[in-house]
Amino acid sequence: MWYKAGCRSCVDFHGLNVNNSSQSKVPGAVILMPMCIPDTGVRVSAGCSSKKVTNRPMTTVPTTSTSVSALGEYLERARHRIEESLDEYLPALGADAEAVCPERLAMAMRYSVLGGGKRLRPVLCLMATEACGGESAAALPGACALEMVHAYSLIHDDLPAMDDDDLRRGRATTHRAFDEATAILAGDGLLTLAFEVVAKEVRPSSAALRCVAILAEAAGPAGMVGGQMADLLAEGHGEAGGRRPPTSVTLATLEAIHRRKTGALLRAPLKIGAVIAQASECCVEALDRYGKAIGLAFQIVDDLLDVQGDETKLGKRVGKDSALGKWTYPRFLGVDGSSRRARQLADEAIAAIEPIGPRGELLRSLALALLERDR
Ligand code: IPE
Ligand code: IPE
Ligand code: MG
Ligand code: MG
Ligand code: MG
Repeated sequence: MWYKAGCRSCVDFHGLNVNNSSQSKVPGAVILMPMCIPDTGVRVSAGCSSKKVTNRPMTTVPTTSTSVSALGEYLERARHRIEESLDEYLPALGADAEAVCPERLAMAMRYSVLGGGKRLRPVLCLMATEACGGESAAALPGACALEMVHAYSLIHDDLPAMDDDDLRRGRATTHRAFDEATAILAGDGLLTLAFEVVAKEVRPSSAALRCVAILAEAAGPAGMVGGQMADLLAEGHGEAGGRRPPTSVTLATLEAIHRRKTGALLRAPLKIGAVIAQASECCVEALDRYGKAIGLAFQIVDDLLDVQGDETKLGKRVGKDSALGKWTYPRFLGVDGSSRRARQLADEAIAAIEPIGPRGELLRSLALALLERDR
């Protein structure tokens, strides 16, 4: 479970939903951990009976206080729709498809995108559109593009030249399941496909243009890629991949790194969702402030999970940050101090969307739920 609040209703939001699954077709794709659930059903635990949620339309935006289970149900339905759309946007497999995209590349792209994940960035995009009074269906292309860019960032983050990880989303990392060259190209393919989807599918074209700019800025040198470089330099990454003494980092520097490497791609969905809904600038700004706050909180919780998380639930290795000499929030503030800072940021996020009123209820619940995640 990655989402729990008050133990009233815990929803497992990590079930594997691989339509036309590439998983079984991937040569050498070692399944390292049997944690992914091979169906699309929600598992409601903590005293609730299991139930399967079908792909019915999303709930309309609640105008009253959102319960924990309402958030869980929303997340499950959103994830289902997002994964169906991702499946359609990704290169197909099969003999006819080979002419469009080499099958090995298509398999690697599908493996990395469709193999689980919380789908937080696309969910935020849909929620933002709805919070501004728009239709979530209009946000799906932007939402999928965000998840593609995120999946690319994970593939590259796991490469031996970067964090050198062998486990992601409970399975072999893409370069382990395939090979490094294929993994690099799968990342490149996802990054470029994301922009193709936004440019071709987001309507009207003026909104598409703004979304392209927001996504590029969040993913590029001023955002995620720049943050990843700063993260490596701070850890002591030297020329030609050699080591040099790690940079002395202040908490302010660490915050700047986190805001770029992770925060930028979590902030972008809010803005993209608002732009797609053609929201007023005041709404765009409120959501942007929310995204800025939860973006940093999210990486603080990620740092905490690396210290005290459960590898089986997380689906990725723990203890890597200290092994690599990374600068993290727990290293500066300890576990309790980091948790307090994350809570403060969630409160900031909640305050930021006050002007949005009742339509922001799901986003408010989500900001708090993210503090409690365990994957
Ligand atoms: C992991 O992101 C990488 C970070 C930015 C910390 P997520 O925790 O959102 O990963 P998935 O998509 O759920 O696997
Ligand atoms: C990476 O942060 C953020 C990305 C840009 C992918 P981490 O290196 O801490 O992410 P995990 O812990 O491997 O998911
Ligand atoms: Mg990293
Ligand atoms: Mg990493
Ligand atoms: Mg991490």
